[in-house]
Amino acid sequence: MKTIISPSILSADFANLERDMISVETAGADWHHIDVMDGHFVPNITIGIPVVKSLKKFSKLPLDVHLMIENPEIYAERFIKAGADILTFHYEAMKNNEETLKLIEKIKSFGVKAGISIKPKTSPEVLLPLLDKPDLVLVMTVEPGFGGQDFLSDCAEKIKFVRKNSPENLIIQVDGGINAQTGKICVQNGANSLVAGSYIYGAKDIQAAINSLKS
Ligand code: DX5
Ligand code: ZN
Repeated sequence: MKTIISPSILSADFANLERDMISVETAGADWHHIDVMDGHFVPNITIGIPVVKSLKKFSKLPLDVHLMIENPEIYAERFIKAGADILTFHYEAMKNNEETLKLIEKIKSFGVKAGISIKPKTSPEVLLPLLDKPDLVLVMTVEPGFGGQDFLSDCAEKIKFVRKNSPENLIIQVDGGINAQTGKICVQNGANSLVAGSYIYGAKDIQAAINSLKS
């Protein structure tokens, strides 16, 4: 199975996003990972809907938007209209499974891939009643909020659990502290999409960094 590589723009130069994002496109990235933080769900604030709209103008790759916000159901449609091709929200941001399923259906109704994410302290078992619905599950391997943190190795087991209990075509993505070594552990456990911010955008040789995650 091909591993989808999604460099996180959080580690790009925000004054030169077009330049940096084109450089990962040329180096063989599959998606662009865009981290949206609201200062409530996580203790950091990044970018929002107008920026996604601007990135869409030049991006040749799908925009993989990771919402780390409260009330994602209020904003989902606007992120889709701005250009999100994959829209992931957090399990912890939702009131109950009914609301979660409703939001997954809504995202899919626009022809966009729907993703659901769990934080490091959330048990993957909470996803059991939901796993046949999303296109993607994002297992966080750091506490969401900041780039450049260390991979939490005990999260790797969660990938295995999700893979074992989900339909074959589910995309399992991991995000946080991914490099050649930790990426390999995740893929061995069943992940088929790797997000990496500092490892890719901080690399001297971006192409070599992306290739090391693919193999
Ligand atoms: C963290 C974000 C990540 C972050 C990853 O909250 O969701 O996407 O950019 O950064 P690295 O790869 O540097 O851990
Ligand atoms: Zn992310």
